[in-house]
Amino acid sequence: MRRVPAKQLHLVIEKIDSEGDGIARNGEGKIVFIPGALPGETVLADVTTEKKDYCTARLVKVVEPHPERVVPACPLHGKCGGCQLQHAAYPLQLQLKLQMITDAFSRTGRQVPLDGFEPVRPSPLTWGYRNKISLPVGGKEGLLEIGYFRKKTHRIVPVDHCPVAMAGLNGLLAEIRRGLGLTGLVPYNESTGRGTLRHVVLRGGEGTRELLVVLVVREFPAFQVVDRLTALARRIRKRYPSLAGFVLNLNPSAGNSIFGPITRGLSGRTFFFERFGDMTFKFEATSFSQVNTSQAARLYEAAAGEACQAGTENVLELYAGVGTLTCFLAARASRVLAVEEWKPSVECLRENGVKNGLTNVKIVETPAERFDFQTDGIPFDTVILDPPRSGCHPAVLESLRRLGAPRLVYVSCNPSTLARDVRLLCQNKAYRLRKVIPFDLFPQTSHVESVAVLEGAIRS
Ligand SMILES: C[S@@+](CC[C@H](N)C(=O)[O-])C[C@H]1O[C@@H](n2cnc3c(N)ncnc32)[C@H](O)[C@@H]1O
Repeated sequence: MRRVPAKQLHLVIEKIDSEGDGIARNGEGKIVFIPGALPGETVLADVTTEKKDYCTARLVKVVEPHPERVVPACPLHGKCGGCQLQHAAYPLQLQLKLQMITDAFSRTGRQVPLDGFEPVRPSPLTWGYRNKISLPVGGKEGLLEIGYFRKKTHRIVPVDHCPVAMAGLNGLLAEIRRGLGLTGLVPYNESTGRGTLRHVVLRGGEGTRELLVVLVVREFPAFQVVDRLTALARRIRKRYPSLAGFVLNLNPSAGNSIFGPITRGLSGRTFFFERFGDMTFKFEATSFSQVNTSQAARLYEAAAGEACQAGTENVLELYAGVGTLTCFLAARASRVLAVEEWKPSVECLRENGVKNGLTNVKIVETPAERFDFQTDGIPFDTVILDPPRSGCHPAVLESLRRLGAPRLVYVSCNPSTLARDVRLLCQNKAYRLRKVIPFDLFPQTSHVESVAVLEGAIRS
């Protein structure tokens, strides 16, 4: 990308993209991305980079603001890379998210009539909702920087308080920041591959108030450092009785995934409990959880209701995690076969079914793309899947098309990969998309969750 000297443009914002940046066109019709600008606004912006097909620009002044523009509550807005829509009032955020979803589907060829997209269901909490924050660590020994990455970089913006995180996590963050610098832990340096501490991950249960600290390290630290960390963990647990555990997680890989495969407790447990609806679930330190508990419970209710309409279904669930959605399904269906690959989550999944009194769940520990879809012998009435942001492996989509279950419910946190996978599922009319129910699980950000409901060819 070529850096250009600042060129100031007067622009009218047409809409926003999937990252929450405003989109306008310059005098030559070239697309300009302007972070912080809202649809309909007239702005002054400095061009910062110019490519053949598009430019990016820095917002200098909002000449005509959107009527629902608000002053961002967080001093790090625009700096820390999170909360891309904090400058929009909440009702506007919901409208913008619906537009992002319909745009993603239009880009792949519009298989659903516009009335198939329901309005985005608002979150009960719009601040203080996150039950997990993952903070990369930089700086140097004794002077650790703990924060979030600046947008599109790996430069750390130190964070003292994150207003979308649960209050308990913010309290812990202050304690950790004070204590960690004195333990002798050296931050990991991505460019040299040296150093130890990669991430501080703080998790907790909105419903149980339990908390868990996970320090992600490239290698297990020397004994003296582990001793100091253990002493710190015990001190903090004394002050915070709700801190269920303090653990080290080993991630030696060079990639971007936060957690590695091995977890060791320093003090207390390596897991915590959280409640969704009237059920309680165990989460290991590295298990996936939806970050907005009360809104996720609403999503699980809705997705399970769509998946199990008769109450007698034989359900296949892919990407089951610790079994939160599984239990909502099992409470409504005859039987659920749940597939998950991450061992610590599979272990929780086994316990969570029993803990919640559900005896109709069978579990298969395998990557979904290696699952034998014919293994069960009994035809599935419904398949429900909730893959990671990257969506489904092509082999999974191909198997689903061949399996041809009458109903398919696809839960997704990424409208682009959802639209891509739905297009593939609908090829040769194997499936037809009936509706998309969006849920705002991530207020203030440009992220949105969707439940897509598809019907097999037989019913169409
Ligand atoms: C978005 S989470 C959904 C989990 C669960 N439905 C929930 O709401 O907590 C995706 C899950 O898929 C698992 N996963 C990722 N890749 C997988 C794969 N290829 N095969 C099976 N499971 C996978 C992850 O470990 C994670 O638990």
